[in-house]
Amino acid sequence: MALKAINPTTTEAWSKLQSHFNNIKNSHLKSLFANQPSRAKDLTIEWEDFLVDYSKNRITNKTLNELISLAQEVELGDAIDKYFQGDIINVTEGRAVLHTALRTNSENEVTVNGENVVPGVFEVKSKIKDFTNRIVSGAHKGHTGKAITDIVNIGIGGSDLGPAMVVDSLQFYKNHLSTHFVSNVDGDHYKEVIKNLNPETTLFVVVSKTFTTQETLSNANSIRAWFLESLPEEAVSKHFVAVSTNIESVKAFGIDEENIFPMKDWVGGRFSLWSAVGLSISLALGYENYDALLEGARKMDEHFRTADFNQNIPVISGLLTVWYNNFFKAESEAIIPYTQYLNQFATYLQQGIMESNGKSVDREGKKIGYQTGTIIWGEPGTNSQHAFFQLIHQGTKLIPSDFIGFVKSLHNNSDHHDKLMSNYLAQTEALMNGKTEEEVVVELKGQGLNDDEINKLLPFKVFDGNKPTTSILINKLTPESLGKLIAMYEHKIFVQGVIWNIYSYDQFGVELGKQLAKTILNELNDTSASVAHDASTQQLLDYYRRNR
Ligand code: F6P
Repeated sequence: MALKAINPTTTEAWSKLQSHFNNIKNSHLKSLFANQPSRAKDLTIEWEDFLVDYSKNRITNKTLNELISLAQEVELGDAIDKYFQGDIINVTEGRAVLHTALRTNSENEVTVNGENVVPGVFEVKSKIKDFTNRIVSGAHKGHTGKAITDIVNIGIGGSDLGPAMVVDSLQFYKNHLSTHFVSNVDGDHYKEVIKNLNPETTLFVVVSKTFTTQETLSNANSIRAWFLESLPEEAVSKHFVAVSTNIESVKAFGIDEENIFPMKDWVGGRFSLWSAVGLSISLALGYENYDALLEGARKMDEHFRTADFNQNIPVISGLLTVWYNNFFKAESEAIIPYTQYLNQFATYLQQGIMESNGKSVDREGKKIGYQTGTIIWGEPGTNSQHAFFQLIHQGTKLIPSDFIGFVKSLHNNSDHHDKLMSNYLAQTEALMNGKTEEEVVVELKGQGLNDDEINKLLPFKVFDGNKPTTSILINKLTPESLGKLIAMYEHKIFVQGVIWNIYSYDQFGVELGKQLAKTILNELNDTSASVAHDASTQQLLDYYRRNR
């Protein structure tokens, strides 16, 4: 069954939240802490190796209760059941949304159109395991008898971002294979990647759910042509494998059926790293680490499905976004991991969050009159402190931020880790407290400035504070904890989509540009073809054509 279509703004909770917002919008976090001595404890969830402290958010217990009432009024609990049990909740594409089935236990049953899909999931996992072991151990030999040393993942969007982010984030756990990612249709991208590769020892994993994506097919074709410059056609089967739902097109491309790792249409592209799309992860980290990643996600699924809303990490974090987005009118959210390993995490989440919830039509097909999907951005701390933090501290925009930190470092350098984590802790404190006029005066007096000098500088040195943050503190970055963290954001996306009454699992917005690019490419290939464009596009096209 489909999700119910309930306009959140018509709920009782929404009206209550609106008047409550008017009462507390100017309350300072400092006074919220002063008025509630147990606040830090009250607004923290401890679960497994995660501690999620959301007490530095501009909420009170009343806010939380009303947000939870909102979740209840839009029937979030019923929606979660439908999501996990494989109902066709992606209505516009007529599909279930079952990335959770990819990491479930083998005894579990998940039915799609009357068929239990779990045995099929485990069949593919076992194929991934066997293949991984053969590549990693060197048992699989390339055409000239040499073991594989390099893996190239050819894909884009969800067929690139998830595997690329996970392999980069978990590089500490990597094996001897070098892993590369080709995604952009920009020919310079694949050329740079292959320029130092030996085709005799390289495995190419062509990843495309649809196997119709221009970027991926162009890159795969060009790379195959390069490969065939030094090796014969029959070598392809030892060096090219594919991941797709579209078996016929993969075969037509020239990849043997036994080299195809299938996936199902109920896996959304941006949630597909848990499927065979994660083959490069398994190859790069070994199957056990890939499975541990899935196990972490499975644990978060269980938590999301069963924990009370007020103890439920994805529910609370989704509700906080709604609070800032729809009541404070915050436009964006920053994600700041305090580990260089999660360098690509915000980029990865941009697709997950923005492709899912960037919608302006509700589940009844009506234009929406309230804000939906937020803009996601971020970079690791401490680097970002020296880049955009000024704007978060003293700019005019409210930017709720997630601070992701780890208690333990991987290389055990406690001197550096303490420095890193002191920044992690200090930044959320600074964002909350800011700096008052009195504090600035004391500081500047201490530096020997006279009253005149102090008065001139004072307005610039004051920080209002009251900037909301959520601290996600995890014991250690491991395949399992990363799995939990990714799944946490996936479910947060779901919570938001349910509340905003949108379909989070289609992505028609990316189609128009693709169609127009095809038309323009025709014009570039065939100069007699002429299509009416606006004056600006025509001018740019002519200029490009003249000067290319
Ligand atoms: O950008 C649109 C999109 O459909 C994504 O959702 C998907 O991850 C990406 O294109 C790649 O698609 P495919 O795996 O079919 O090549």
